[in-house]
Order: sequence, then structure tokens, then C-alpha cells
Amino acid sequence: MLLMKDILDEKEKCLHEKSHEVTFPLTNDQKNTVKDIIEFLTNSQIPEMAEKYDLRPGMGLTPVQLGIKERYIVIVHEYDEGKFDNYVVFNPKLVSNSEEMIYVGEGEGCLSVNREVDGIVPRFARVTIEGYDEDGNKIRIRAREELAIAFQHELDHLEGILFTDKIDPKNPYKNKEKYREI
Ligand code: NI
Repeated sequence: MLLMKDILDEKEKCLHEKSHEVTFPLTNDQKNTVKDIIEFLTNSQIPEMAEKYDLRPGMGLTPVQLGIKERYIVIVHEYDEGKFDNYVVFNPKLVSNSEEMIYVGEGEGCLSVNREVDGIVPRFARVTIEGYDEDGNKIRIRAREELAIAFQHELDHLEGILFTDKIDPKNPYKNKEKYREI
């Protein structure tokens, strides 16, 4: 099972590099990694499990954060207390977005960023993502609010971009009034 020690820190070079497209069918190793990531993210959001395994809560992870530069996203979204939806999208693309922009008032977090970072990251309030499921079937997902932010955050990882790259340290709350806080 995956633990915090398996997740690479932002200091690692690969976190700043692009990930490569995935080809189908997936190998058993790839399928197992997906399962491991889902298990990790789910446990991390269940307080007793997070405490037991010393996990920091996270709703999304990309394989590059484990040192595997493959283009896919795993999100485990707690849509209701103790209830989770899993999203696994291979070779994902953002195909449409709202004009409205939002940001996380308390600041975004990342399992690879182990420090306090002040500032806001403007994100689209609603997005549509296209990609492929584990069997290589085309899928399309519409997401809004925090789930939309999670998709955009994870898509950035596939480009080697961290949320911290999007914050100007000299003006970390720039244009805050233009966006809606969630
Ligand atoms: Ni992240």
C-alpha cells in the first residue's frame, strides 16, 4: 500500500516535467498503481485511516507524484460524508470551461508540497474533461466547484506545473475580488 513516504516532494525534478500519453491496454502494473492510488486517497480522507497510516488528506493524485510520468488523473471525491466517487481519466483534456472563476479561500494544497504557501489560484468554476477509462473507452466528465478545481490542479501536474507556480509571491492575492471564493 502507498504511504506518504512514496509521494515525491516538489523538489524532485520529475514534478516539473511533462508526463507521457498512456497506451492501451494497460499493464497489470498500471492497473495496480491505479488501485493503490484510489486506496491511498480514500484512506487519506477517512480520519481514522488517515491517523492510523499517518496520511495527509488529499482528493487527487497523478502518477508523476510517484515518479511515474504517465498521463492520467485519479480523484477520489467525498460528495457526501463518508461517500466517495472515484474518477480515473487517462490522457485527459480540458474541452470546455465556464467563464466564471473561483478559488479555494483557505488556499490549495498538494500532497507534494510540504510547506505553507500563501495565495490564491484562480480556477474555472466548471469544466468538461474528456479522456479514456481504464479499458480505453472514451469518457467525458463534467465537474463543478471543488471537483472542477481538483481536475484543473491534476491536469497541471501532467504538464509539470504545481499550484505554487501559479501564485505570484510578491502579490499572492492578486485580483482576488474578481473571483468567487469557495
Ligand atoms: Ni497536487
